[in-house]
Amino acid sequence: MHTLVLTQFINFIKSRYALAFTEQNTTQLTLAINNRCKALGIDSPAAYLDRLTTQKDEEARFINAITTGETCFFRYPESYQLFLNQFSEEALLTSASPIYRPIKILNIGCSTGEEPYTIAILLHQSGHLGSVPIQINAFDLNPQSIQHAKNRLYSQNALRNTNPLVKQLYFQERPNKQFELSQEVAQQVNFFSMNVFDLPNSPLIQHYDFIFCMNVMIYFDGDTITRLIPIIKQLMNERSRLFLAPTDSIMPINEQFQVNRTTQGFWYSLAQPKHKQHQAQLNTHALKDFTQHTTSTPAQSTFIPPQLKEDRPKATNKSDTLSPSTNFFKLGLQAYEQKAYDQAEQYYQQGIEQQQHPTECHLGLAKLYADQGRSVQAAELAELVLSATQHDEAYLLLGTLNLQAGNYHEAKEHFKQCLNLNANNHEARNFLSILNESPEAL
Ligand SMILES: C[S@@+](CC[C@H](N)C(=O)[O-])C[C@H]1O[C@@H](n2cnc3c(N)ncnc32)[C@H](O)[C@@H]1O
Repeated sequence: MHTLVLTQFINFIKSRYALAFTEQNTTQLTLAINNRCKALGIDSPAAYLDRLTTQKDEEARFINAITTGETCFFRYPESYQLFLNQFSEEALLTSASPIYRPIKILNIGCSTGEEPYTIAILLHQSGHLGSVPIQINAFDLNPQSIQHAKNRLYSQNALRNTNPLVKQLYFQERPNKQFELSQEVAQQVNFFSMNVFDLPNSPLIQHYDFIFCMNVMIYFDGDTITRLIPIIKQLMNERSRLFLAPTDSIMPINEQFQVNRTTQGFWYSLAQPKHKQHQAQLNTHALKDFTQHTTSTPAQSTFIPPQLKEDRPKATNKSDTLSPSTNFFKLGLQAYEQKAYDQAEQYYQQGIEQQQHPTECHLGLAKLYADQGRSVQAAELAELVLSATQHDEAYLLLGTLNLQAGNYHEAKEHFKQCLNLNANNHEARNFLSILNESPEAL
């Protein structure tokens, strides 16, 4: 590829997505560009760049091609153990406090969901889920990764670090050696497709108790990391803990952060004035003593299930509620879950033509379009469903589309309508609580 065109790509990627490629490190980028040109039948990288800069529809595929998203469940066992210990301390404080507030966790660069789901599994296993209010938000630049996360279907490779008992408790084997994470755990995580540099204008800009930003800065150059630091600071208050990957420890931390090291690893917190540091140490000691003498806390310091006494969390699948006879909606849903999107679209269309579950097929098609970034068509279909019948999922979809578009007021109204129809819709409840807690975004 011509060096000039490559440099144009590098500049475009940096300005649009903040990802840093250098002229010395372009093998993956060149491969990605060539593959996309081939897939689209475009004969030159320059023409492809032109298409990328003028048409939105190619963006998700391009991002998918240039971000690797390497991850797995329980990737850093020691860091998670450290997190769990810290979480137990926070849970004790929260339970003792007369003020209701959820413990908030944010996962930046969550890739295909393994990291936030690991956190949710740990919290479920340790008994914290359900005993203290918890909010877990996770986002990634790559919309296809977010879609993968929402599908909650994983390969054996994603589970390579997962204890067999955990696997048995939280996953159900599906065809093609896929493993489906239990809905009960999965619904604890709210996923968003977003660039970390857009955080300040999003409803996710809040203070978090725990922030995970593991293996994300590997994509950034020095300037970009410098731009990221004030954004991360906006997410923190004096109690927040920031977890980076063990290999991220090169973060150019300045005097605004302090590193807290233990034998299991490290986390960052906002640097405190000297007199407050002393007080914080005293508080930590006092809390440690309390933890040691308290037996009633539900937290256990391990993520390997000590016993299999709990019933296996049941994964729910909407197709299970359909009639057992084969139908286009069911076929569409199966194809959608296996990410055979073109095939899913065809089945849903056939379902609509033959008047088989037309509402469900319209809704299935609307979700599929939303996942592909075809928001206008997705919204039109959801509206069409609502013109025929009141459906909580249609309101949820409209809420999500508005949320993504930054129309927070409309999003809120749709989530409310969704909850009017189905008070148990967890996603709508979570999104609404996020919106309610960030009035500055409205
Ligand atoms: C190597 S993966 C790490 C996944 C997970 N955090 C882990 O450590 O296992 C890095 C992720 O960061 C995401 N990412 C890169 N730049 C980003 C940005 N500007 N905003 C949000 N996510 C970003 C990538 O899409 C990718 O999925």
